[in-house]
Formats: sequence, C-alpha cells, structure tokens
Amino acid sequence: MAAIASTLLLSFSFSTVSSSSLFLTRITSRFSFAAPLPLRSNRTKHMAHTLARATATLGLTHPSNTDSPKISFAAKEVDVTEWNGDILAVGVTEKDLAKDGKSGFENPILKKIDSKLGGLLAEASSEEDFSGKAGQSTVLRITGLGSKRIGLIGLGQSTSTTAAFKTFGEAVAAAAKSAQASNVAVVLASSEGLSKETKLSTAYAIATGTALGIFEDNRYKSESKKSALSSVDIIGLGTGPELEKKLKYAGDVSSGIIFGRELVNSPANVLTPGVLAEEASKIASEYSDVFTAKILNAEQCKELKMGSYLGVAAASENPPHFIHLCYKPPSGTVNVKLALVGKGLTFDSGGYNIKTGPGCSIELMKFDMGGSAAVLGAAKALGQIKPLGVEVHFVVAACENMISGKGMRPGDIVTASNGKTIEVNNTDAEGRLTLADALVYACNQGVEKIVDLATLTGACVVALGPSIAGIFTPSDELAKEVVEASEVSGEKLWRMPLEDSYWESMKSGVADMVNTGGRQGGAITAALFLKQFVDEKVQWMHIDLAGPVWNEKKRSATGFGVATLVEWVLKNASQK
Ligand code: BES
Ligand code: MN
Ligand code: ZN
Repeated sequence: MAAIASTLLLSFSFSTVSSSSLFLTRITSRFSFAAPLPLRSNRTKHMAHTLARATATLGLTHPSNTDSPKISFAAKEVDVTEWNGDILAVGVTEKDLAKDGKSGFENPILKKIDSKLGGLLAEASSEEDFSGKAGQSTVLRITGLGSKRIGLIGLGQSTSTTAAFKTFGEAVAAAAKSAQASNVAVVLASSEGLSKETKLSTAYAIATGTALGIFEDNRYKSESKKSALSSVDIIGLGTGPELEKKLKYAGDVSSGIIFGRELVNSPANVLTPGVLAEEASKIASEYSDVFTAKILNAEQCKELKMGSYLGVAAASENPPHFIHLCYKPPSGTVNVKLALVGKGLTFDSGGYNIKTGPGCSIELMKFDMGGSAAVLGAAKALGQIKPLGVEVHFVVAACENMISGKGMRPGDIVTASNGKTIEVNNTDAEGRLTLADALVYACNQGVEKIVDLATLTGACVVALGPSIAGIFTPSDELAKEVVEASEVSGEKLWRMPLEDSYWESMKSGVADMVNTGGRQGGAITAALFLKQFVDEKVQWMHIDLAGPVWNEKKRSATGFGVATLVEWVLKNASQK
C-alpha cells in the first residue's frame, strides 16, 4: 500500500466493529462558543458600512462583506475511536512515534487507534517519513473509525510551548481546509501527564491556532472560497467550567487578532486615519457598557499643542484623527489605570526623506499602523471579556506621512505638547514624532503604566529578524509582567537595552534633540527618544513590532501584539 501524499485517499475495510460503538459517545461536558467569526462578521459589516459612506475611495475599492461561518469549540472526553466526523487530528511529538518490536506504536492512544486500522497508521507514518516534526502532517482517508479521516500532526520535540500548540492548531486548520472538513476533533497522543493549568493553556493555544489558521482575509478579492469548518472538539484536555471559560477567552482574543489583521491588511487608500478612527468609535458603540470614545481633529490637537504629531500629518490630504478610547469596568472600583499607545501611520512614504531603493518596502507601509491595530484589537477583545478593577486608555495619533508643499522639510523644528523641541533631521523617523504627543497625552490621563507598540524601526528587524519584537523598558517589574503575558500568548519578545550613552547621537545644535541618531543602534535611539515624552513616575514599555507585524510568506498581517496586551491587562485586573 503506497501512502505517498498527505491527502492520499485510502480505503480500508474492516471486519470487526467494536461493539461499544453502538453506544452513544460519553460526553461529560459540552461547551460551544461561536468564535471568533460571528463577531468578526458583525465588525466587518461595520467596516463595509464605514467605507460605503466614504463615497470617493481612491480606486473605487470597497471591502466585501465576507460573512464567515461560526466555528464552535467544545471540550470533550470521548473515546477517540468512536468520535464521528471528518478528521480526527492527533498531535504527536517525535517521541510519541516510537515503535515497539513489531513495528507498532508504543503510545497507548496511537496503539488503540491503529488497532482499529490494522496497523495502517504505523505503516503510513514510516512510509511517508513522518517524524512528528513541528508543522509536518499526514492525513489519510480511512474506514474503521468513527472519523472519515485520521490526521497525524507533528508537535516537534516533547517539550511543547504555547507557540508550538498554536502552530499545531494552524496545521489542524490547514488539514481541515484541504479536506473541506466541517467537523474536526483534536487530541494529543500524550496528554495524561499534563497538569490542569497546562491542559487549560494547551486548549487555549490549540483553539486560537485553529481559529486563526482558518481565517483568510478575502475582503478585497472578487471571488473567494469559504471554509466549511463549523465545529472543533478538543478531546482529552478535560471538561468543565474552567475549560469552557478558557475556550471563550480564546474566542475573544482570536476575534481581536482577526480585527487587528483586517485593519493592517486594509490598504491605505481604504483605511485612512478617518476610517481608523471610525473603526475605533465602532468598538466603543458595540461595547458601550464599558467603552467611551473621544476623537480629536487637527484643530483640537493644535489646542493641545501637539506640534510633533501635527508636523507629520501636515502633508496629507487625509486629515489626522487622534483616537482615545477609555475602558472602565462594568462594576466595582478601579485599582489600576493603564494605557496602551499604538503607532497609527496608515501610510509611511518617508516624507521628503522618501523611501527609495531596494528593500525599503514602501509598498508595504500600509502596515505602519500595526501598533494601533494591536491596541484596537485588544480593545475589542477586552470589550467582550470585561475585566474588573482596571481602567484602560487606548491612544492612537493616527495620520499619514506624505509629501506636499505643506509638509515638514528635513531640518524643520517642531514643538511637542510637553514643550520639548525636535529638529527633524529625517522625515522618515515620523513614528516617534507622532508617539511623542500620544505618550504625553497618555501620561496626562493619570495612568500608572503605559505600553506603546510601534512598527518603529527597520533596525529592530535587522537585530531580531521577522518574528521577534524588541521590548524596551527601564522597569524590571513591567518587563516581567509583559514577558509573562507573552509566554501565555505565545508571542515572541526580546528585551533590548535602553543604553543612555547612546543619547549622545540624538543631540541637536539648535533644538532639544534631533529625531534620528544614525544607523548604529537605531532601535535603541528610537526608544530613548520616546522616553523623553514619558513622565518619570509612570512605568513605561516600548514594543517595536516592525518585524512580526507582517507575515512575509503569507503576504498578510499577523495581528501581533493583541494576545499579549489582553493577557497583560488581565494580569492587572482584579477579576477576569
Ligand atoms: N515605519 C518605519 C519602520 C519600518 C521600516 C518598519 C521597515 C518596518 C519595516 C519607520 O517610520 C522608519 O521609516 N524608520 C526609519 C528610521 C530611520 C530614518 C532613523 C528606519 O527604520 O529606516
Ligand atoms: Mn518612516
Ligand atoms: Zn513609519
């Protein structure tokens, strides 16, 4: 029997059917959440509506209203061999694939499944050279189990992290897509030894990975195929209210991530600063029990003396919109006030220091609002979760960095809202100019902690590559909080130094500072610049996500930052 391709169809007949299959599957708990897609389609309608009103969208493009199917996730304890559906996806580590003397599996779950398949699985896994490496998968069409197909999906080494289970969930989604499956069950070959906590975080990671893996942003395609997946049963990780809550949380976070991805994927002719502000206002009206929105126009920003931000916005035909959402818990007192500040450049041409030359990626600079997408994605998720004891301010100084006779020249001096003067020696270092006024504004809200996120420097991508964000903070305490949050979310962060001696290169002969310190240590000097605009009493962290905002291979946004921010806010909440 030649099992070659991962989607090879195999017909396998069975003489004995287990008598217990006549009995109903034992389900001790069932919980479904319609996540995250129904929320997404509501929101997508909002966005389409917003854009429909902008009658003269450049290029006449309007995103279509892609109503995605609901996926319900359920935690179950059932016999996997009796589970009925389209794919039974088994997560296997390299260790789980160990064979006994008679070339059968040693692992009890694989052994049990394979006994119903006459050893097919062991045979196929060796023939296909399936070694359980992360991302590897093999799906076989079978008879003999309740499931129509069995999938072996690699988990890599035996020590598995949240990131590994997210990747696993994405592989499950890929298998479901290619088989056009509507029902999938997920089980790990080795889950017995796991602690309750680990089971919860594993279920969370698998559910988010699967939901995000299924998601395809087809709003700007004239034709697209819809996913058929409607239910995912997670088997063997327990049942009960805690797990149900975790799965709901996975759905809330996923819908925030998808919202963030859609914002970043939207091109700059569609997603202008005004449309970004409308999208933020819609979050506030959708969750009006916990959110209020304030959108400042250029005139109001001028009154607040935001010369640094307005300097960047000056060249654009699309006016700036300063976005401020405020989350207050539905009941109880507030113990801590936080702010999330996001860079919101809906397009960054570089200005007079225009982005030219190979590798400058000017055509990708719609993603320069990735920080604000993370902040608004987190707002959306928190609107659903409604944590207690915490107040959160979401601040975005949205604008475009363009070129015109009204725009900033290199060498101009701008004055930020804290009175500091900046000689703009490079108009392409615009993100920090907008963040300067956004950070001053956030400090004025009386918050104790601020996290800002920005696609700030190419230098950070050079330092850490495409999938790790750089974090910068003088506070070890805040570093610990956010790093712990990222271990739960599976997003990769790496702490970078705020080397004070490098400030030397940011000194100006005529103003308080310049905005660019040269090529060396570019991500660090950018962070030192931001520090000038943060109150010393406030704990502050800057996250440079210029690398992980975008998935080069998928040519699509990642939604990076949302999951970590939500987790960090919940860490600061009194009750989730
Ligand atoms: N938005 C860019 C940073 C960026 C570059 C993000 C490439 C993702 C990929 C930012 O506004 C910028 O242009 N930064 C300059 C700063 C320089 C002029 C000091 C950069 O990194 O080149
Ligand atoms: Mn720039
Ligand atoms: Zn930029």
